Amino acid sequence: MLERIVIPSSVDQLLLPAEIRLWISDARNRIEAFQDRWDQPQIEQFVAADYELVYQSLAWTLESQLLIGRRFLEWGCGFAVVSALASTLDLDVIGIEAEGELLDQGQRLVAEWNTNVELVCGNFLPPDSDELADDPTLPSLGHPVRCAYETLGLELDDFAIVYSYPWPGEDDFHERVFDRYACRGALMLQFCGPNDVRLWRKRA
Ligand SMILES: C[S@@+](CC[C@H](N)C(=O)[O-])C[C@H]1O[C@@H](n2cnc3c(N)ncnc32)[C@H](O)[C@@H]1O
Repeated sequence: MLERIVIPSSVDQLLLPAEIRLWISDARNRIEAFQDRWDQPQIEQFVAADYELVYQSLAWTLESQLLIGRRFLEWGCGFAVVSALASTLDLDVIGIEAEGELLDQGQRLVAEWNTNVELVCGNFLPPDSDELADDPTLPSLGHPVRCAYETLGLELDDFAIVYSYPWPGEDDFHERVFDRYACRGALMLQFCGPNDVRLWRKRA
């Protein structure tokens, strides 16, 4: 069972370190340049989150909530911006991404920012978890890539905190997957759209 932890609305008042502000601005430029390219088809699955709010919510979570470990996983990391930001908060960070081109962008970003982040190409859904979806057209489904947990030699229940940015309508699918496969006590942080960051703890 997942228990919702309410993140106070004042979280957006938390001060961002100067370096984090610069990184986020650099990330926006990279994403804009990538999305403006006319010579490649667009990867529609990628949408940038509100990185300031995600960072503030994560920092608040780490200060106020008990963590069962330091392993952080980003489901569908795209440019790996959140993974890189999380690595500055004393977390051991892994990002999983299905799209090779996005993963390349993520690899470049974490290398140029000199962060300690492991990125893996693959599917973040544990085997058979697609059965928990009530709609076969959800964007998280059907990626023809290897299960990332096999590549990593880890399971979802090895992680203390998972971050996801579900598309509208698949937030409850992500919750069900986390509820079924995560470790008891683990946290899930979801960016669900403007001013909508949700935090869950797996209880039972
Ligand atoms: C809405 S974007 C969010 C990107 C990033 N997490 C962020 O907050 O900036 C969702 C990302 O998840 C990736 N994705 C979707 N389903 C996936 C799956 N089953 N396994 C791995 N990556 C997936 C997409 O390619 C896309 O990059």
